[in-house]
Amino acid sequence: MSKHAKQGLPLGIDVGGSGIKGAPVDLSQGAFASKRLRIDTPAVSTPEAVADVINQVVEHFEDVRGDSPIGVTIPGVVTHGVVRSAANIDKSWLDFDAEPMLEAKLGHDIVLVNDADAAGVAEIHYGAAKGQKGLVVMTTLGTGIGSALIYDGKLIPNSELGHLEIDGFDAETRAASSVKDKEGLSYPEWAERLQRYYSHVEALLWPELFVVGGGVSKDADQFLPLLRLKTPIVPATLQNKAGIIGAAHLAQEEHERRHH
Ligand code: BGC
Repeated sequence: MSKHAKQGLPLGIDVGGSGIKGAPVDLSQGAFASKRLRIDTPAVSTPEAVADVINQVVEHFEDVRGDSPIGVTIPGVVTHGVVRSAANIDKSWLDFDAEPMLEAKLGHDIVLVNDADAAGVAEIHYGAAKGQKGLVVMTTLGTGIGSALIYDGKLIPNSELGHLEIDGFDAETRAASSVKDKEGLSYPEWAERLQRYYSHVEALLWPELFVVGGGVSKDADQFLPLLRLKTPIVPATLQNKAGIIGAAHLAQEEHERRHH
């Protein structure tokens, strides 16, 4: 029996613009242990309002117990539990010491992590980049562009490559999938923007592998084959589960550092 057999399962929570989604995670499989629960993001998504929703998610799952660590993803930079940027979330998160507030309110060990970083951690342990050595660059194409840098399996947090300035633009305002939708771009038209973006990142970092996540990655065959890069580029395999799984993984790791 593993020494964690009696511990409640870690919970991953993905805080997005429209929904807050959570599930307990079986880390031996890198999979949800129960069907995920989704609750609408409160119209005013302050840290307190989001904490109330997380509480509902916690109470919903039987295999989440008092000692279950909780990983929470946020679409912004997080350093030492403090959210430092809020491009696409409620501005009240900015510079707010969210981790201690969440711990006090929920009574669980909490790890707050950037959404793309969580997705990258999931892909390197259980998904498209499993076992990959050297530098992996994970990008998530959605409302914005998120990024995760992982070197020899270790996350280098808060890379924020979606905000590279390219041709005078904040890159995510040209190449995110929300921009494709807003401007009605076809896949080939959008692929030109992605080409510009990934060539630039490639020339700066020379990774071993690009992994492309975000909802649109389910249609990867419509745009990834159009890209001409020196680096292999593959779709994420965990899709919209990656944030939850990666957050739970990081929360469990931190829990073990604190208590063992
Ligand atoms: C934010 C990142 C986030 C990404 C995806 C960007 O606008 O700056 O922190 O990872 O959107 O949500």
